Amino acid sequence: MNPRCEEFELDPGLVHLNHASFGVPTRAALHRVEARRRAIERDTATALGSALVAGLREQADGLAREIGAGAGSTALTAGSTEANAALATSLPLAPGDHVLLLDVEYPSVIRAWAVACERAGATLDLVRLPLPATRDGAVAAVGAAHPATTVVVLSAITSATATALPVAEVAALCRGRGAALVVDAAHVVGHVPLDVATLGADAVFGSVHKWLPVPRPVGFLWLAPPLRPVVRPAAVSLTWDSDDLVERFAWRGTWDPAPALGLSDALAEWRGWRSAGELDDAAAVAAHLDEGLTAIGLRQTAEARLRPPRLRAFLADGVDLDDLRRALDGAGVRAWTGRAPDGTTTLRLATHVYSEAAELEPLSAAVRAALRT
Ligand SMILES: Cc1ncc(COP(=O)(O)O)c(C=O)c1O
Repeated sequence: MNPRCEEFELDPGLVHLNHASFGVPTRAALHRVEARRRAIERDTATALGSALVAGLREQADGLAREIGAGAGSTALTAGSTEANAALATSLPLAPGDHVLLLDVEYPSVIRAWAVACERAGATLDLVRLPLPATRDGAVAAVGAAHPATTVVVLSAITSATATALPVAEVAALCRGRGAALVVDAAHVVGHVPLDVATLGADAVFGSVHKWLPVPRPVGFLWLAPPLRPVVRPAAVSLTWDSDDLVERFAWRGTWDPAPALGLSDALAEWRGWRSAGELDDAAAVAAHLDEGLTAIGLRQTAEARLRPPRLRAFLADGVDLDDLRRALDGAGVRAWTGRAPDGTTTLRLATHVYSEAAELEPLSAAVRAALRT
């Protein structure tokens, strides 16, 4: 067992390849959040009252620096869902407008924009991305957008299909057509570098608990200057109409800010892994698992240059999803399984500092068993 495992509450009897779904805080982060909760309880009037916005601002501005953004440009949210809901309920849509998303986008993100379009009398264009995904295929899919497209929503790294979509190329397309580009960066912070200053997007959101060791839920919403006065939380709370972006998202109604207040500590812990080369080691494990699974017949979801370092997904042609789930469960392997948009059974793996190349053995044995059934 990788000794790093002991820094997490992970069941040592299982193979853990699914932190991309819900995140995985370290034991140290869990202790810190508990200590922070106790400190809050000593004086809630101050901690949840007069001191709250300043505390969150420090964390939000620290995250902003990490993603190439300036102070005051980035709000903290409960995750991607909350941030996307704010965008879908705030960006102006009129009858006749079109909103474009690829069919590989996260289902609730698609749904939020479908609801927004329905309310506004706009049209949602859900465009097929042929798999395995290619850069040319993704650019062509967005390039064929209806001329009345006002918003494009694109994942920097897709969820089920683990594809690093060509955001810069799509941003250039959007600029040329006058459409706003919203980037879903749920799988970015703590995984691959993000520089919103050069990305060319109008809004970027994500769930930082997925790839940083911060207890869930913590997310963010960055807005380009023209959108800062426009975007409001979907849930109307006491601070909904604040001119200050950080304050506007600081009060969701009564909530527990302890995880969000630990963001800078999580960033420091993660930077330690990065400088020790442990994130690169985890990427090497992902490449090893990738090689092993494709050798036994799985198909990668994306061409090589679109494969993110520590998140890989595979199409298991002809394999029944329930059979795959049973085989993985039986082998004690935890990985995300589901269906690609065309219904093909899909397996997704995420590696971390505790991952090991030896995990290929139980993983490939389970996949082989599913392929045989
Ligand atoms: C690409 C993508 N977008 C949005 C979400 C929603 O994130 P959350 O549940 O943290 O709000 C996820 C969750 O897995 C995701 O993978």
